[in-house]
Amino acid sequence: MSAQPDPYSKVAQHYPQVQWDALKPMVEEINALKAEKNAVILAHNYMTPDIFHGVADIVGDSLKLAQEAAKTDADIIVQAGVHFMAETSKILCMEKTILLPDMKAGCSLAESITGADVRLLKEKYPGVPVVTYVNTSAEVKAETDICCTSGNVVKIIERLRDEGHKQVFCIPDKYLAQNTQNQVEGIEILTWEGACEVHEKFTPEDIKRFRNSGEDVVVLAHPECPPEVMAEADLSGSTAQMISYVQEKQPKRVILITECSMGDNITAANPNVEFVRSCQLCPHMKRITLPKILDCLKNMSGEILVDPDVAVKAKHSVDRMLEYSA
Ligand code: 13P
Ligand code: SF4
Repeated sequence: MSAQPDPYSKVAQHYPQVQWDALKPMVEEINALKAEKNAVILAHNYMTPDIFHGVADIVGDSLKLAQEAAKTDADIIVQAGVHFMAETSKILCMEKTILLPDMKAGCSLAESITGADVRLLKEKYPGVPVVTYVNTSAEVKAETDICCTSGNVVKIIERLRDEGHKQVFCIPDKYLAQNTQNQVEGIEILTWEGACEVHEKFTPEDIKRFRNSGEDVVVLAHPECPPEVMAEADLSGSTAQMISYVQEKQPKRVILITECSMGDNITAANPNVEFVRSCQLCPHMKRITLPKILDCLKNMSGEILVDPDVAVKAKHSVDRMLEYSA
């Protein structure tokens, strides 16, 4: 269950030895507390390397973290990620204690829509299934038919098409919806006016600049980016799909069009790959730090609670997603 005793070789490129020597006692204290309390840390790929390599038990994209939350036999889950991820874990494991190290770690997508908005959509478009990105509140998940992540959205919408639907809502990320529409035929995807405040900042010029430099570069982009950015990329994928691509294909040079910590976390494991820096920071993800993780484990603070009636309905949408992506 505990992370490796001293992961310095994995983080050496990002922390001088003297800085790591200062962080190490905190890493050790967190790992000891996890063992003592039967806790696990589920960390998103956007966590900083000290968290990702030092204290996380499971790392991954939103899909993997939900799958692992459903499976773990720990009593406590510390969610090293943002609020909607912690809520998803709670929905899947109501009997467990879920802790979020900073309650202000939100998400512009989750902020863009409410449960009442979804109820209105369903009234206006009866019979049109609503596929909701996991980057939403429990209240929104409770009103929807099925959840999705960036890693399974295409598969889920194709499945609904194959079940005979001609239209589907994919909410609240308008770019994820438009990018999915560009990959799926035979079904019309309706959307909502939400966007990720991090990925919407990328522009096609960010990519063209590197392409024009004359050196070969593989561009991997997250589907929360605008479609004109995706048009310049070689591969669209969730954070886990980007990592798998780099691990398997070992491109000579790669640009990850996503949050900055992604590249930092995988440089040590891929010494022959040059990571060209062109990234944006997510201010919400960066609220999660080692001192806050230690504090919440020590004091059992930042507990996530979800209304049991809401949780039952939301779990149905998340379970259906896990079933469709199995
Ligand atoms: P994935 O890790 O599922 O690709 O999601 C990215 C993201 O923005 C999480 O907030
Ligand atoms: Fe939300 Fe975007 Fe941050 Fe992910 S990267 S948590 S989608 S604001």
